[in-house]
Amino acid sequence: MRTLQTFCIRTYGCQMNELDSEVMKGMLERRGLTRTDDETTADLLIFNTCSVRDLAERKALGKVGRLSRSRKDRPVIGITGCMASAKKETLLEKLPHIDFVIGTNNIHSLNEVLDEVLSSGSRITRVDPLFSTELDYTAAQRDDPIKACVSIIRGCNKHCTYCIVPYTRGPEVSREPDAIVDECRQLVDKGYREITLLGQNVNSYGKDRQEWGTLFHDLLYRLDRIPNLSRIRFLTSHPVDISKDLMEAIRDLPSICEFVHFPLQAGSNRILHKMHRSYTREEYEDKVASLREIVPQVALGTDIIVGFPTETDDEFEETLQAMKRIRFSTAFLFSYSPRKGTPASRWKDDVSEEVKEQRLQKLIEEQETISYNEMQMLLHQTVEVLVEGVSIKDKAMVKGRTRTWKNVVFPGRLEQIGTVVSVKLHSFTNQTYVGEQVKQDAFLIQ
Ligand code: SAH
Ligand code: SF4
Ligand code: F3S
Repeated sequence: MRTLQTFCIRTYGCQMNELDSEVMKGMLERRGLTRTDDETTADLLIFNTCSVRDLAERKALGKVGRLSRSRKDRPVIGITGCMASAKKETLLEKLPHIDFVIGTNNIHSLNEVLDEVLSSGSRITRVDPLFSTELDYTAAQRDDPIKACVSIIRGCNKHCTYCIVPYTRGPEVSREPDAIVDECRQLVDKGYREITLLGQNVNSYGKDRQEWGTLFHDLLYRLDRIPNLSRIRFLTSHPVDISKDLMEAIRDLPSICEFVHFPLQAGSNRILHKMHRSYTREEYEDKVASLREIVPQVALGTDIIVGFPTETDDEFEETLQAMKRIRFSTAFLFSYSPRKGTPASRWKDDVSEEVKEQRLQKLIEEQETISYNEMQMLLHQTVEVLVEGVSIKDKAMVKGRTRTWKNVVFPGRLEQIGTVVSVKLHSFTNQTYVGEQVKQDAFLIQ
C-alpha cells in the first residue's frame, strides 16, 4: 500500500468551499499527513472546485492539467467541491491522472476514499445528492486565529434559472442549533472573536425542520448570548426571506454586525421573473427601505448579473439606476455564464460578450463612485474596529474591519489582536482607511 506524507489543497469559489477545505485539512492532519503549500512536491493534491461560472471551472481544470503533466512522480490527485458534484465520474474519463472525485455532500468519506485508492489503486467517485450530516465540522483547521466561518445550512431550494448551486450542493439541510451553538462556543474558547454564519440562504435556516422551532433570527438570539463573541456576520441572504424579525435582531443584538449581503441580481422585473428570483425590484427596494429604517447604520452588499438571456439595453439601464438609488456598500458584479443543466442554459445566450463586458464596466464604474463617496462619509468619524492582525504593508500598523466590513489600519501593537477598539478615521487609500486609536468609549461592546 502506498503511503502519503504531505498534502496540498487548492480552493476555488466561495466561503463554503473555503470551510470545506478547512475541514478536509483537519481530517488529513488527524490522519497524520502534513500540510504543504508546495503543489509540486505534495504526495496528495486536492482541488476543491467551483462551478458557478465557466471561468471558475476552466481555472481549476487548467491547473489540474498543467500539474498532472509537469509532475514527474505520481501524486494522488482528487477533485472535490462543486465541479465534482456537477461532473461526477465524467471527470475521471476526461482527466486520466485523477484518482478520485468527491462531491460537496461526501466530504466526510475523504479518508475512506483515500484508503481505497491507496490499497487497491482503483479510481473512485462519491457524489450523493443529499448532504450527509455525518460531517465533523470540529475537525476544521483554520488559518485565521480571530475570524471563523461556521456552516448553518447547506444546499439551496430556490432554483434561480441561471444557477448551478442547487445541483452541486443539493436541497437545503439545516444543521442542528445545538451543534452550531456548541461549535461557536468552542471557537470562542479557542480565541475566535468573529464568526460568519454560512449558507446559500442563511435566512431559510430551520424552515426544513419546523420541529426545531428555531428560525434564523432565533438562532441569532441564541448565538448573541455567547460570552466574548464580539461579532457575528452571515452570508448570504435571499431578499425574499429577509424578515422584520431578522431586521430587529440586527438592531437589537450587540454582536450582530450591521451588514446584509442580499443579492439584487437585476433591476428589471421581467429579467428578475425570468431568473426566478420571486421578488420585484419594488419589493426589493421596500426591503432596503425597511432595513434602513430599522437599522439606520446598516451597510448593504449585493451580487448582480449582467447580460442574462434577452436582457435589453433599457433593462440593463434599470439595473444601473437601481444601483444608483440603493447605493450598495459592496457589489460583486458578474457577466452571465450559461451553466449546463440549468433552465437558462436552454435559452439562447443572446447578449454578446462585448455588450456584457460594456455593461459590466458601467456597473463597475458606478460602484467605484458609490464606494468612494461612502468611504468619504465616514472620514473623521470614530468607528469600532476588531483588530485582526498586523498590516502586511507596515509592521508598525495593525489591521481590522469596521462592523460594516470596511478595512482599517492604524498604529498598534500585537497584543491588540482580537480586541475591539475605537479608531478615528483620518484618510483612506483605495478600500482601506487609515486611522488612530482613540480612548475607549461608547463604541465598545465588551
Ligand atoms: N446563494 C447566493 C449566491 C450564490 S452564487 C444567493 O443567491 O444570493 C454567487 C453569485 O454568483 C450569485 O449571487 C450570482 O450573482 C452569481 N451567479 C450564479 N450563477 C451565475 C451564472 N450562471 N452566471 C453569472 N453569475 C452567476
Ligand atoms: Fe443560486 Fe439562487 Fe440558490 Fe443563490 S438562491 S444559490 S443564486 S439558486
Ligand atoms: Fe462555487 Fe459551489 Fe460556492 S459553485 S460559488 S463553490 S457553492
